[in-house]
Amino acid sequence: MCGIIGYCGNKPAAPVVLEGLKCLEYRGYDSVGVAILCDAQLLIRKDAGKIEEVSEKHGLDSLPGNIAIGHTRWATHGSVTQANAHPHSDCSGRIAVVHNGIIENYQELRQELISQGHRFSSETDSEVIPHLLEDELKSGCSLEEAVLAIAPKLEGSYAFLVLSRDDSGKIVGTRKNNPLVIGADGHAYYVSSDALAFSQYTNQVITLRDTEVVILTSDKIEFLDAAGNRLTKQSEELDSSWAGNHKDGYPFFMLKEIMEQPQVLSKTAYQDERKFTDIALDILRARQVIITACGTSRYASLVGRYLFSKVGKKFCDVVMASEFGYFADSVDKNTLVIAVSQSGETADVIEGVKAARDAGAEIVSIVNRPNSILADLSHQVIPLNCGPEIGVAATKTFLSQLAVFYLLSFSMVNSFDKACIQLSDMSSKITEALNCNNDGLIKLSQELKDKNNFYYIARGINFAIASEGALKLKEISYIHAEGMPAGELKHGTLALIEQDTPVVVICPADYAYSETLSNAIEAKSRGAYIIAVSDKESDIYDFWIKIPEVDELLYPMVAVVPLQLLAYYMAVSRGYDPDKPRNLAKSVTVK
Ligand code: F6R
Repeated sequence: MCGIIGYCGNKPAAPVVLEGLKCLEYRGYDSVGVAILCDAQLLIRKDAGKIEEVSEKHGLDSLPGNIAIGHTRWATHGSVTQANAHPHSDCSGRIAVVHNGIIENYQELRQELISQGHRFSSETDSEVIPHLLEDELKSGCSLEEAVLAIAPKLEGSYAFLVLSRDDSGKIVGTRKNNPLVIGADGHAYYVSSDALAFSQYTNQVITLRDTEVVILTSDKIEFLDAAGNRLTKQSEELDSSWAGNHKDGYPFFMLKEIMEQPQVLSKTAYQDERKFTDIALDILRARQVIITACGTSRYASLVGRYLFSKVGKKFCDVVMASEFGYFADSVDKNTLVIAVSQSGETADVIEGVKAARDAGAEIVSIVNRPNSILADLSHQVIPLNCGPEIGVAATKTFLSQLAVFYLLSFSMVNSFDKACIQLSDMSSKITEALNCNNDGLIKLSQELKDKNNFYYIARGINFAIASEGALKLKEISYIHAEGMPAGELKHGTLALIEQDTPVVVICPADYAYSETLSNAIEAKSRGAYIIAVSDKESDIYDFWIKIPEVDELLYPMVAVVPLQLLAYYMAVSRGYDPDKPRNLAKSVTVK
């Protein structure tokens, strides 16, 4: 869960790499480093801290040289220290490596290298890479030959870039199970975990596939397969929405992304009807349908499950991706797996999908990130078309995922067009849900910012919105929050309700209204402070988050947006940065 970037061209490399790293910060933000080649010298500067801090402390911006690699880290192996920050080097300091992923067999490799006399300076798994390269390079081979030779020794996942003082003028990179994309703008070449890092210079992107190697120099790029044969690869045009990462005047990306949801919905609804009809038929025909996802994407899938049942009369199961492997025995060629992932990189999702593919299942993915690993592994890909989501907490992509499930379920009954029309009407409803609650939610967050526990309850199609509301709150404001079906409250959790405990009740005027309200009354009788998300008034509410009246299958969309806002304002009231919650990163590429 790190971001890497390389640049080879005629401009000073350091500012390009630093700007790129800022775009990759969503992948990790605990340490930063760059390695730069200048006059046959390899300079490495790195430290723990955010990009701005490290850059200022070490003068990264003014390092000379036209070839550089950089890294922004989310610690997995080894604590957050300067020594563990990337780039890592070999014993002689002639090689620099930045790595994203996990080398699972690093302990064996490290022991072997130490027994041969190598000296390690960090606790990371990544450091085995430069030491392995050092050994290969002793035989006089080129940097790319050394990369090809060591790659089969590495188990786990990686995308890494290498610079060498002795084979200067080039960056060599390769990958397995982690992304690496290359861009060219006529004067320079870029390579990164995400095209976002260089999208301001070029919209021409080449995706490196597993085990392929790329060699960048200032005037050309070359590709090799795992056997060292030359490959010809075509560039693709980057979707224009996948460029730029500006806050557009908002204080945080999360607020910008919440507020752009009305527009996002129409972009998501812009889909290929034929593709949806084909996928819907496959879903109806499949003996079993399993949806797999993590976190917020899983909550969207739970809403999808209700929609499939209510509209398409098709039962399916949602399996948490980290648990998917334990159900692998029942996956076969009659299974259709729908994998839902904003990033298309989540390791648990990728692993499950690979296993399901091997068992003969058909894979349909719902992804936001173009050229992602998940998209590559899928038979059919449904894009969310949201553009980049930078805030670590998913917001607009969740709404988009709901819209895709809505379109899919209506495609099952040949009503794709009807669903598109309904969705286009939703943009104004979402605007209303945001605008009419904004000021009230600011006040509420001030009032509740010192609470330690929140409970979120709902029934039916909105149950997953209770879970999603709770997840948003806990991940960015660090308050304990639980979401659950309202009917479950009395089976245990009710014991935790005390005087003034906030209970968020999602109770739109749908088929579950009366029962949900009864559960809220049970909580209120024990002292709960009831925050209701509803279009229908009741005197049992202590605070009313008013949402517009919509079709009952669309309530999740209007109910979730004020809950995102509530979480956002709670985080800000408590003095936290909602874009960069502690311990979290946006792309979870580790299991
Ligand atoms: C929460 C959040 C995470 C992700 C989860 C899956 O706001 O963002 O829970 O939803 O890590 O990520 P993707 O969708 O990229 O597979």
